[in-house]
Amino acid sequence: MYRTHTCGQLKIEDVDKMVSLAGWVQRSRDLGGMTFIDLRDRYGITQLVFNMETDSALCEKARKLGREFVIRISGKVAERSNKNLKIPTGEIEIICNKFDILNASEVPPFTIEDETDGGDELRMKYRYLDLRRSVMKKNLELRHRMAQEVRNYLSKQNFLEIETPVLIKSTPEGARDFVVPSRMNPGQFYALPQSPQTFKQLLMVAGYDRYFQIVKCFRDEDLRADRQPEFTQIDCEMAFVEQDDILDTFEGLTKNMLSNIKGVEITEAFPRMSYSEALENYGNDKPDIRFEMTLHEISGLVKGKGFEVFDSAEYVGAICAESCSEYSRKQVDALTDFVKKPQIGAKGLVYVKCNPDGSYKSSVDKFFDQDALAGWASELGAKPGDLLLVLAGDKSRTLSALSELRLEMGRTLGLMDKTIFAPLWVVDFPLLEWDEDSRRFYAMHHPFTSPRPEDIELLDSDPGKVRANAYDLVINGVEIGGGSIRIHDKALQQKMFKTLGFAPEEAEAQFGFLMNAFRFGAPPHGGIAFGFDRLVSLFAGLDSIRDVIAFPKNNSGRDVMIDSPAKIEEELLKELRLRIEQAKA
Ligand code: AMO
Repeated sequence: MYRTHTCGQLKIEDVDKMVSLAGWVQRSRDLGGMTFIDLRDRYGITQLVFNMETDSALCEKARKLGREFVIRISGKVAERSNKNLKIPTGEIEIICNKFDILNASEVPPFTIEDETDGGDELRMKYRYLDLRRSVMKKNLELRHRMAQEVRNYLSKQNFLEIETPVLIKSTPEGARDFVVPSRMNPGQFYALPQSPQTFKQLLMVAGYDRYFQIVKCFRDEDLRADRQPEFTQIDCEMAFVEQDDILDTFEGLTKNMLSNIKGVEITEAFPRMSYSEALENYGNDKPDIRFEMTLHEISGLVKGKGFEVFDSAEYVGAICAESCSEYSRKQVDALTDFVKKPQIGAKGLVYVKCNPDGSYKSSVDKFFDQDALAGWASELGAKPGDLLLVLAGDKSRTLSALSELRLEMGRTLGLMDKTIFAPLWVVDFPLLEWDEDSRRFYAMHHPFTSPRPEDIELLDSDPGKVRANAYDLVINGVEIGGGSIRIHDKALQQKMFKTLGFAPEEAEAQFGFLMNAFRFGAPPHGGIAFGFDRLVSLFAGLDSIRDVIAFPKNNSGRDVMIDSPAKIEEELLKELRLRIEQAKA
């Protein structure tokens, strides 16, 4: 037996017990005749003591132990004179009478502490060392508990967890597919699922009216803090349901997770906000409603006064930052630089300081007198002491820039408290999105989403106006999940493919299997998928999903630990009948 207890287990009640522990040397300190070692395992840290007086040979040997050596010790539990009440085992120590080195360790490339000196790249290269840190361990433990909670909750509601294949044909979710060549079918490729979308719909046709799966999805797209090329969904589908049934069920799941995992009780229903309302008031479709500072269009108030920037703009909008009228020149310049960043894309920033004495000072005083500025302030409900920030330009870009500016101000003013959870449903998405470059419509969600019945006739006359039976769950400005009521009628699905520019043969070749299934009694159905990594990182209070994934990829989609992707043997290429085109010099 390697150990009788773990390093997080022994307490004051265990004093005088003879025990064995195994783990890693966290650190060691020599104090006169004593050597103290912190021994770490998954469960905690226990202090070991080696005494020069009682066993000098053992103590000498212990002094040579380096960080991260793996050892096994035996000894007696004793009460500590110098207690550390910050850790559960801090009242005791083990007076060791024996130890074995199970494995030596080289000096690790960074310190295995909560505050590590290891940069991102180094931590990823030695991820197994990074994962020894207790902050990482806490994240993975949280992830496990959340997965358990999901399984418990949904199983109790009669959902079945059913696995779907990973080698499939393309599922259109808006990203590029990762593909896998087939040796047995030369020249042909599987695609890795962007989601199990079509399979879960087929399960509904098959009569499994409540399905879920905690499942890996693969998308070849540009990566960011909340995007990985392979990520995990809590994927769900239900038959014989309407939108409200789905929202109720998954609001229940979310509330249950918040309560059981975070101790946050939300009793009232999640607010519902239409897509257009979200855009007008928050500038994007995933509003962070932990704080107000909503957007206000002021085009009507500001146009025609000779200020060219406003006069030529499609949209002029503003936010009101409370108690910021004393912002210095430097602070306003920093905000101007922020909105002018290429990824934000505004041309400049106009400000109005609502001075505490009731007067106004703006960057456009030449064009707007005190009365005009008072009108803006009144439109935004600004009080003396507040600061108005105004952007102008084409509507969609300006809304998005204002949204970024709002979030930046929210961050600066400390309004984004990570212990507060503010969920909402965004509903009434448009079914289709026009793409100017390819001059065609794309499905805003995916092509299986049903139009609102009252909008179906607009599919021919004005497709851009059709609203979808689709919804997103947003928490604290993060899109946590999305879903829809699906089309379950073959003719309507065909029409949808046609609207999306698929020739009938093309639609048949790609999605014939689904439309065929719809010939054999497809029930009305709908579903949702939660981004599980995003949900865990939100619960953990983190900004990146990487910290809740054991072995994530970096921003170039690489795993720097195993050095992948990598070239493959010429032999294998031949077998797959593939030839690599050399990059031109
Ligand atoms: P959607 O594409 O909205 O819907 O994905 C569902 C949720 O998955 C998360 N997500 C991601 N998380 C990490 N990295 C990524 N690259 C990534 N992409 C998406 C988001 C998102 O809300 N089949 C539909 C669901 C349905 O209609 O039922 C789907 O996949 O949190």
